[in-house]
Amino acid sequence: MLSSDQPIAAAPPPGAAADWTIAQAWEHYSDAEHATWDRLFARQSALLADRAAPEFLEGIELAGLWRPGIPDFEELSERLDRATGWQVLAVPGLVPDAMFFDHLAHRRFVAGSFIRTPEQLDYLQEPDVFHDVFGHVPLLAHPAFADYMQAYGEGGLRALEHGAIERLARLYWHTVEFGLVRSGGGLKLFGAGIVSSYGESIFALDDPSPHRIRFDLRRVMRTRYRIDDYQRNYFVIDSFDDLLRQTTETDFAPLYAEIDRQPDYEPGAIAEGDVVLTRGTQAHAGEPKAC
Ligand SMILES: [Fe+2]
Repeated sequence: MLSSDQPIAAAPPPGAAADWTIAQAWEHYSDAEHATWDRLFARQSALLADRAAPEFLEGIELAGLWRPGIPDFEELSERLDRATGWQVLAVPGLVPDAMFFDHLAHRRFVAGSFIRTPEQLDYLQEPDVFHDVFGHVPLLAHPAFADYMQAYGEGGLRALEHGAIERLARLYWHTVEFGLVRSGGGLKLFGAGIVSSYGESIFALDDPSPHRIRFDLRRVMRTRYRIDDYQRNYFVIDSFDDLLRQTTETDFAPLYAEIDRQPDYEPGAIAEGDVVLTRGTQAHAGEPKAC
């Protein structure tokens, strides 16, 4: 996850390498921690069978995530490497943006190695191994999405030079974390923040509250987001190939300059030019926080 939303130390914590990675220490997970993974995996895989994008479900198979227990990152990396050349490395928590982008640009996905407690099954703020691995890794086995993530990392390193991290972070948020995709005549889930959350896996697809709007690169980079609640708007890509094409064919430097002259959109707003696939009631926006 990008660190832009939260304060972060400038230097790696004790025990971490200069690139902020640590040993996963897989052998140190307790039986109770493996059981927490198994419980989360069983619940999400049953829920997502007809809700997640087929590419995500195929990725679960390819990455071998169906095997019981918290995955060993070395084995996971061997499987991913065979599929798309990606690796998974452990980090102690959020890493600085430049480091995060550099890892992505080199096809290295950095993942939290700790797992939530049984009391935190439904929500936690810091990304744990279930969010990072179950949520993010399956699509890294898909060639177009794997290329998109690398391109995103390369774009992030350039965005640092343009002071445009906030814009680019919004692209990540509205696609990698909370994206939907058209599939088989309907909508399917693929964002890691959704598919790793029981509640949001239902809300994002079924609830009448949020707007579901066709993805547009300029639009999403102007759109603020909530980090403490379900999303007000979900953006729907046509396909992973289209997302990759739009990202790699866009010259972002002039786009940042253009967007800087325009106002942001608030979460839950509908903008002129939006292709609204389902107009939401926004009823949830007035309710108390429920993640
Ligand atoms: Fe994430």
